[in-house]
Amino acid sequence: MLTAATTAYTAPGSLGGSMRDFRVPKGADLLKRIEGFYAWQNARRTSGLWPFSRATEGGPQHVTSARDDRGASNRGVNFASQDYLSLSNHPAIKQTAVDTITEYGVHSAGSPALVGNTTHSITLERRIGDFLKMEEVVLYPTGFAAGFGVIKGLVRTSDHIVMDALAHTCLQEGASAATKNVYLFRHNQVEECRRWLAQIRAKDTENGIMVVTESLFSMDSDTPDIRAMQELCREFNATLMVDVAHDLGNLGEDGTGFIGAQGMLGEVDLVMGSFSKTFGSNGGFVACKTRAIKEYLKFFSTSNTFSNALSPVQAATVGKAFDIIADEEGKSLRQALMTNVLNLRSSLETAGFEVYGDPSAIVCVKVGQESLARLISRRLPEMGLIANLVEYPAVPKGQARFRMQVMSNHTPQNIADAVSILRQAHDAAAVELAQLNAPAEVDTRVAA
Ligand SMILES: Cc1ncc(COP(=O)(O)O)c(C=O)c1O
Repeated sequence: MLTAATTAYTAPGSLGGSMRDFRVPKGADLLKRIEGFYAWQNARRTSGLWPFSRATEGGPQHVTSARDDRGASNRGVNFASQDYLSLSNHPAIKQTAVDTITEYGVHSAGSPALVGNTTHSITLERRIGDFLKMEEVVLYPTGFAAGFGVIKGLVRTSDHIVMDALAHTCLQEGASAATKNVYLFRHNQVEECRRWLAQIRAKDTENGIMVVTESLFSMDSDTPDIRAMQELCREFNATLMVDVAHDLGNLGEDGTGFIGAQGMLGEVDLVMGSFSKTFGSNGGFVACKTRAIKEYLKFFSTSNTFSNALSPVQAATVGKAFDIIADEEGKSLRQALMTNVLNLRSSLETAGFEVYGDPSAIVCVKVGQESLARLISRRLPEMGLIANLVEYPAVPKGQARFRMQVMSNHTPQNIADAVSILRQAHDAAAVELAQLNAPAEVDTRVAA
């Protein structure tokens, strides 16, 4: 285990810089000009300061082993999994997968626009529609494809997009692929959203406006006033699109997340989500209110039309996950998850940490300086904690944090271990950083 006295090698440059430095590389040779990124990343990697791209050995269990991309494997309590209700290993879901594979094989072998759907995907569309009280649903191969595709599918170059500045990359990329007219409002600032809408409508009543936000932001664990935003959209003849990737299924009495909690079930124009956080599979969806919207998306949302459909096993397992989530078992899994969330948040606070936002499966722990966060992160695997470091540009500069993602089957001991490791790692890393920052001692001896 690393201690306060650790003298791990820290390569020059590995505590500074960020991915942003390499986003727009300069030079005529596309393949040469990106090499600076690898050099910087490798300085971090060789110093044990590159905590990304790890692979679990045995899947996303609450205690698991993860191998980093240098080949080092460590076992620990896992707070880096998006399997919030621990459904990826649920016996009924695994049995559904086995049965479906036996009957259908493993591949959809076609786009949904051709012959890629199966009876399982058609059933799943209906299942999601009923759960969200939305009339129609379109399935996508991933949540990213759904977020990107719903925007690119509906918005044209002369239209406008008004979007929360912290919206997920799939939404930002979909927006910039669709139009240059993208206006960001400060995170969750409904009044600022209103000002953009008023400004746009004062000049342009001919073209469309899509307002884009999320029901639960995954770096801050907070939610907008969805009702107020939908009302604004009606007032300014705009369309609201809400990404429910992180709370659908796992939050609220009935699992309908903040849309349900705010009494907005069936009221939002467009709802987009992912299966990869709570539903034990890859895949995503867009729920809408009319068959006309669905049919348009099926043929003009290219990440749906020109990509193979969800495999039968994905569609069947997600369908089974919805069954579990909608019944009593789902309720008790959500209660177990929330008990763990509240326990983790209060244990972290008792240990002197600050956490962001409201109680949800995402518990982000404030650190601040990137250099300190990287040094903490270096210690965690060997101490037995798997947790994701989040740093600029995923969050603002100087606001690095650890994103702890809670599962319903974490035990109280897992939580106590995680908090104690984080505390020890933080204190040891602070000492280490102070030593690294101390001016080098000048050798004043006179040569003989
Ligand atoms: C808010 C949000 N939307 C969309 C996605 C993309 O989902 P998927 O992992 O299914 O591609 C993610 C996942 O990181 C997300 O956090």
